[in-house]
Amino acid sequence: MALVVEDIIARCKAAVGEHTPALAVRDALDELVADQAALDHALGPVELGGITALHNAADLTILRVAWTPGMALYPHEHRMWAVIGMYGGQEDNAFYRRSPGGLEPAGGKEVRQGDVLVLGDDVIHSVANTRRNFAVALHVYGGDFFSVERSEWDIDTYEERPRDFARTQRLFDDANTRWRNQG
Ligand SMILES: [Fe+2]
Repeated sequence: MALVVEDIIARCKAAVGEHTPALAVRDALDELVADQAALDHALGPVELGGITALHNAADLTILRVAWTPGMALYPHEHRMWAVIGMYGGQEDNAFYRRSPGGLEPAGGKEVRQGDVLVLGDDVIHSVANTRRNFAVALHVYGGDFFSVERSEWDIDTYEERPRDFARTQRLFDDANTRWRNQG
């Protein structure tokens, strides 16, 4: 039987019921991202960058995130655990710590196709796709990703501000326009 979206949701829901949900989700994503063709079939092809919500509830959010080539998302926090499972391309994650002036850099991690990255509740990260192809991943969060209040930071000044989804959407729109005009 071919993998369908409902299978992905069911596996994440089952993982969230386990004693260590984030690690159980990691294990589920390890299996899922090992079969890129099955995920492409279940979730459809990526033609533009963007966020697609597959499931959104108080205890669990599942997104398919496609980063447009050349795009970078400014630093932000989630205030809930997150697990990222790459199944196409590569995400370059940079990490930060809060500091008196705003933020200070705290390392980074390149997440490649087939990799799964677990982020704790207090992680602050930015994400960039420096490659020539889309970076495509399942992003699973231990809460309601769209409702929780949290911060983001200006990518140049590190000034803290409230999370703003309209700003994120504009970032995708601008990156997609640039990408199409290049093509
Ligand atoms: Fe994030």
